[in-house]
Amino acid sequence: MAGIKEVVRNFRYVKNKLSSAILECSDFRDVIRKYDSKGTLFYLDPPYYRTNENAYIDTVKPMEVYEVLKDIEGKFILSYNDHYVIRKLFDGYTILECTTKYELGKKERGYVKEARELLICNYEVGVKFV
Ligand SMILES: C[S@@+](CC[C@H](N)C(=O)[O-])C[C@H]1O[C@@H](n2cnc3c(N)ncnc32)[C@H](O)[C@@H]1O
Repeated sequence: MAGIKEVVRNFRYVKNKLSSAILECSDFRDVIRKYDSKGTLFYLDPPYYRTNENAYIDTVKPMEVYEVLKDIEGKFILSYNDHYVIRKLFDGYTILECTTKYELGKKERGYVKEARELLICNYEVGVKFV
């Protein structure tokens, strides 16, 4: 568990890192089209696909995400819940598996749920998650 000093230190670090960041609230397709270039790295965390997690319902279809990402010039990292439809759609891309904990919904469930997620990239990465 991080102490308050560490939290403050992390905030300062992030604040400096994001000092020139631009925040936009737009549809993901518009943002990707606007900023795509050879030097861009996109991180996408779309609504989960067909899970029982009610926090984020699947308002964005994986095919819509795939369609916009397949032709970009830049790099992307895409996180999704581990579902065979997602694996099939992004077959041929780099797919890393990782486990995570869903804090959201903990109150209703009474426990922190462990789940498997996928990190999908359009480039080779030298990191393995467990
Ligand atoms: C799994 S959540 C991501 C949560 C986020 N990473 C965070 O830590 O808060 C999915 C997010 O996609 C957003 N979203 C839904 N449709 C979208 C769209 N068409 N374009 C951009 N974002 C969208 C939702 O508002 C939601 O915040």
